[in-house]
Amino acid sequence: MRAFQINEFGIERLALVERPDPSPAANEVVIRSDAWSLNYRDVMVVEGLYNPRMKLPATPLSDTVGEVVEVGAAVKRWKPGDRVMPIFAQRWFDGPPNAEVVRTALGAGPQWDGVFCEASAFDEQALVAVPENLTNAEAATLPCAALTAWNGLVVSGGLKAGDTVLTLGSGGVSVFALQIAKMFGAKVISTSSSDEKLGKLKDLGADEVINYLEHPQWDARVMELTGKRGVDHVVEVGGSGTLSRSVNSARIGGHVAMIGALETSGDFDPVRAFMRSIRLQGIFVGSRAMLEDMLRAFDANEVRPVIDRAFGFEDGPGALEYMRTGSHFGKIVIEH
Ligand SMILES: NC(=O)c1ccc[n+]([C@@H]2O[C@H](COP(=O)([O-])OP(=O)(O)OC[C@H]3O[C@@H](n4cnc5c(N)ncnc54)[C@H](OP(=O)(O)O)[C@@H]3O)[C@@H](O)[C@H]2O)c1
Repeated sequence: MRAFQINEFGIERLALVERPDPSPAANEVVIRSDAWSLNYRDVMVVEGLYNPRMKLPATPLSDTVGEVVEVGAAVKRWKPGDRVMPIFAQRWFDGPPNAEVVRTALGAGPQWDGVFCEASAFDEQALVAVPENLTNAEAATLPCAALTAWNGLVVSGGLKAGDTVLTLGSGGVSVFALQIAKMFGAKVISTSSSDEKLGKLKDLGADEVINYLEHPQWDARVMELTGKRGVDHVVEVGGSGTLSRSVNSARIGGHVAMIGALETSGDFDPVRAFMRSIRLQGIFVGSRAMLEDMLRAFDANEVRPVIDRAFGFEDGPGALEYMRTGSHFGKIVIEH
């Protein structure tokens, strides 16, 4: 089988190598991957920006869907032919995260090597079933970006009908956040740097949109749009470059789900946060139980992931380059 391997950091140096097919231990399942999806983290991992001291060689990517081709002697949950996806943090099944489970995230070092290969072995507990109504490519978008948006809004945020949600930009996490917010009957204000993408966000149900390049003080615009109240939840994917304005956009006592670090310039002033009793909550993807809850909700509400573009397996580096440009809307997938 073939695998993408980081021998040296840099997308252009990502190597396609031959490896022996994995064979399962007693509690393991071997899956043959058919689809993968990219997260911004994968670009950072391959470029050496996620953890410059990461041991090499390593295989990138956390999100894949495939078919079970072989099961170990003690496996009870799966049989050959089942469609499955590995969970992001391989030992986080339920409850809050802890130091042990956060170390089991796929695709950020050789200890829990990534899934950008044609076949991999997983503990039988570290997989979930793919919903019948989704294609493999659609399902491959869910284990990281969608689950992070779900955790940020539903688990940590306690999202409810009538709440107002602010999403930043139109990448994978933000588009899922918009879809989840609409599913719960919330109002959504979405930002983007592109008027064309703002049109697509409106088509997906955004109630109000703001071009953050035309309105660099987009927090003031959010306040105008909410009658000076502010939003209940911010899905904060920008990081230090957007955090101050995200805090300014939240209502008193509002919730900011701290998810990303796309924009590293800027200073964060804590005064506005504590003076307005803002709840800043760091989010680390989510557990298997959260993923299963989300899959049921998506199924019942017929939520379909938004796929911008699909690349072939051999064009993995091209897909990562495309993600780096930020021109995508929603998710980028790779298919066999
Ligand atoms: N904490 C976690 O568990 C977790 C999980 C998943 C992702 N993340 C992080 O969340 C972030 C988003 O990940 P992703 O995979 O969704 O990324 P992505 O798909 O690459 O998102 C890219 C988009 O973000 C928008 N963006 C960039 N800079 C922005 C800014 N200053 N203000 C507003 N929008 C901006 C742009 O949208 P427009 O083109 O529309 O302007 C861009 O197209 C990353 O930092 C990632 O590492 C964290």
